[in-house]
Amino acid sequence: MKISVRAGKSPELQTQMLVLPWYQASTKGRGRGEAVLASLTDLDALLGGTLGRVVDSGDFTGKKGQSLLLYGPAEGGPARVLLVGLGVRADVVGERWREAGGHAAGQAADLGVGELSVHLGAEQAGTGLGVEAATRAVVEGLVLGSWRFEEMRGKEKETWVQLSEATLVLDAGSAVEAISTSARIGEKVASGQNFARELAVRPGNIATPAFLATTAEELGESFGLDVKVMGPAELAAEGMRAILAVAAGSAQEPRFIALEYKGGGGEPLVLVGKGVTFDSGGLSLKSASGMESMKYDMSGAAAVLGALQAIGELKPKVNVVGLIPSVENLPSARAMRPGDVIEAHSGTTIEILNTDAEGRLILADALSYAARYTPRAMVDIATLTGACVIALGHEAIGMMGTNDDLLAQLDEAADRSGERVWELPLWDEYREQIKSDIADIKNTGGRPAGTITAAMFLREFVGSIPWAHLDIAGTAWANESSAYQPKGPTGVGVRLFTEWVLRQAG
Ligand code: BES
Ligand code: MN
Ligand code: ZN
Repeated sequence: MKISVRAGKSPELQTQMLVLPWYQASTKGRGRGEAVLASLTDLDALLGGTLGRVVDSGDFTGKKGQSLLLYGPAEGGPARVLLVGLGVRADVVGERWREAGGHAAGQAADLGVGELSVHLGAEQAGTGLGVEAATRAVVEGLVLGSWRFEEMRGKEKETWVQLSEATLVLDAGSAVEAISTSARIGEKVASGQNFARELAVRPGNIATPAFLATTAEELGESFGLDVKVMGPAELAAEGMRAILAVAAGSAQEPRFIALEYKGGGGEPLVLVGKGVTFDSGGLSLKSASGMESMKYDMSGAAAVLGALQAIGELKPKVNVVGLIPSVENLPSARAMRPGDVIEAHSGTTIEILNTDAEGRLILADALSYAARYTPRAMVDIATLTGACVIALGHEAIGMMGTNDDLLAQLDEAADRSGERVWELPLWDEYREQIKSDIADIKNTGGRPAGTITAAMFLREFVGSIPWAHLDIAGTAWANESSAYQPKGPTGVGVRLFTEWVLRQAG
């Protein structure tokens, strides 16, 4: 999406749709919208006082999620004016702006509008948040809200107008340069997230481990990343036996993908993403109902690739490594069985009690492999446990880890990116649940605290590296659409990772 920034009042602005983010009045009673802002009085005059009458009517209050479409004058001015509710000023955080951008993009799609403008005066950016953060969030909402996936339609091919141009209209004398930078960051981060969505939405017969590897190589080409891909032979030579064990049941060969972004600044930040391109459960087969959603079991890998795209675009001064173990988990005559014992890359022996707990197996090898980079910090991201959906629903990423500083950094990045995390404890007592009768550990800890025992399992392979684990089982895809999120993959993790990496770069 082409984003431009211009400063100065411009009621005569020629645009297909002028979006006016609008606060709700904080006073109780009729719940009117806030009065027409000073920066909009010229526009209101051009519209013959319509904005004032809208406010007076109380029909549109500026409540979060509310919107109202008006039409501009016959000559000179915006063709359409879209009022979008932000909610009460004091409660407005970045997420409200992201949602407003999403609503505007949704309206644009419905109306076939390919170009719009957003009025973004300082008085609108409101208290606390500031124009720059509002800018970034609204741009993210526009880009995320105009994503759709039509690649796989054949006869039903639809044509639609893609929103491709947005102009941010600022007050005269605004810090155009700083705001342009924010807009650019928002655009790149959201594009990275859309890239992750596009990878995740592709089904298991298309998005195979080899496909992810090719995608990573292309990303490397585009942004000058060093990309190394290992297949079965290299994995065997490297002793990545847990990855090979999970892959054994599938005709799809496993891949281990390492991407290195070199921005400078010492030891790298390492991002590890679970790349199970389809999870049937293996011999511990899942039930048929809803199994198709296990094409999303590579959403962690998608998040790492999406974040690296954004990082490649934004070029922060920090080194970042992305690691993706990728397999398909299927039952067959060659599949691993419940009861099998394997020796992971680290030398730890694992008794496999349930072949459906495969994510932690492939991550185990990736986490111990990561030690060679001597990471400053390491964060893995995975659709790891159904238990996480039970614990947190679809509202937050489950976060666990060994290092308080790192967890605090991620907490902050979550606040700013709007991708919420919620910490669960890793108390030593939980370690009991993964003790095996015959091996070092077993790959399931039973039903109680399933998200935590999965993380306790991963912890065995981390060594002394500051580490955090993000369980995105409840947030990787949406069953219903919302402001900037259509039904389907969310690309969760891209905004969080990119925000964290940018901050670490300073
Ligand atoms: N990929 C699943 C977890 C999952 C389930 C993600 C539902 C998103 C929605 C994972 O590989 C899995 O099957 N986990 C098992 C672990 C159990 C066998 C210990 C689970 O959560 O049931
Ligand atoms: Mn599974
Ligand atoms: Zn899985």
